[in-house]
Amino acid sequence: MLECFFIDELKDIYWAEKHLTKALPKLKKASTSEELANAFEDHLQVTHGHITRLEEVFELMGQKAQAKKCDAMEGIVKEGESVIEDTEEGTATRDAALIFAAQKAEHYEIATYGTLAQLANNMGRPDVAKLLHETLDEEKDADVSLTKIAVSQINAMAEQEVE
Ligand SMILES: [Fe+2]
Ligand SMILES: [Fe+2]
Repeated sequence: MLECFFIDELKDIYWAEKHLTKALPKLKKASTSEELANAFEDHLQVTHGHITRLEEVFELMGQKAQAKKCDAMEGIVKEGESVIEDTEEGTATRDAALIFAAQKAEHYEIATYGTLAQLANNMGRPDVAKLLHETLDEEKDADVSLTKIAVSQINAMAEQEVE
């Protein structure tokens, strides 16, 4: 039962990661600041690694890597796209909105990988838990980087644009 659920959740996050590899270039292109564009580019590379790592996890579990549509990530990405439509190109407000949307995606991933790693441990699979933890740490790093960019410049600039 637990293993079935675990595999199902793996398929869900596998789909989500693949979906993000299509979304991140759009966020990068829409960014105003170079720093933010670079952060999205970096996370795109890291995300490719997450996909490879999930394929390793499927293999360790004796399963074929398979994606199952993740409605949550589809919604989060759609929200990110609407943020691009709703904000003006070349503004700090655009960047603040992009960070807001991206952090929702990161938090979804953090919740998912945290739970999956815990489940893997409960199932007596520390080898699988270790791989999931590696990705979890990288998602947390991405979240922290986005917060740093937001705090350091963008929020202040966005405030000026309102005035
Ligand atoms: Fe990821
Ligand atoms: Fe991520």
